[in-house]
Amino acid sequence: MAVPRPLIAGNWKMFGLGPAVDEARQVAVSLLAKPAAVRVAICAPATLVERLARAVEGSALIVGGQDIHQEASGAFTGDISAEMLADAGATMVILGHSERRSIYGETDALVAAKAKAALRGGLEPIICVGETLAERQEGRTLQVICGQVKASLPTELDGHAFAVAYEPVWAIGTGLTPTLEQIEEAQVALRQAMVEALGEAGRGAPILYGGSVKPDNAAVILKAREVGGALVGGASLKAVDFLAIVRAAG
Ligand code: PGA
Repeated sequence: MAVPRPLIAGNWKMFGLGPAVDEARQVAVSLLAKPAAVRVAICAPATLVERLARAVEGSALIVGGQDIHQEASGAFTGDISAEMLADAGATMVILGHSERRSIYGETDALVAAKAKAALRGGLEPIICVGETLAERQEGRTLQVICGQVKASLPTELDGHAFAVAYEPVWAIGTGLTPTLEQIEEAQVALRQAMVEALGEAGRGAPILYGGSVKPDNAAVILKAREVGGALVGGASLKAVDFLAIVRAAG
């Protein structure tokens, strides 16, 4: 499989009403005027996916969701499936975000089941891992994130496009970022764990960094070893900020 281009993905979380579609439209228009060297995605709340997909149709902007249920359909009140997200126009989905893991108790096994479901529904999964501050202070970062990646990546990913996102929990939404050395140490360890888990298939998938990526730190972070893009929360909500990060990627 050819080495995929880096990916800059926005994670809007539970933010955005109708007018937010304009922010995505601005990103799409900019990409049409000046194509980016990287792939660019916005993972929106489910209620906005169809509107975003229509608004940016014909542009290079990828539209994604933020979670799915592992079944295709069924009596699961409040949930949506990969097939439903795809039907609404999404082609990508974030899985196992630390907010899903900590607030909703999602396990590695569930994340792996959701990754299989994403492939079944035709979605490209971004599978998130990351250590808590306590785990880092206990010196367990690499053990934790490599354990998560091995247990969250199903072998079925072989032959499919996917990404892993390294997001230290303590860096999300806090304005704190690890040092470049800490980022590289984690990303390199994750690459090794992915190869151990999936063989060659673990070599090509991009490993994004996420956690307080902003216009002013993106260029430096994106040059770090094994960083194949970024998962951007707060700074993806405004087109100007998100585009500054996209352009920092080259
Ligand atoms: P942040 O969020 O960029 O606001 O820190 C990142 C994420 O949660 O994916």
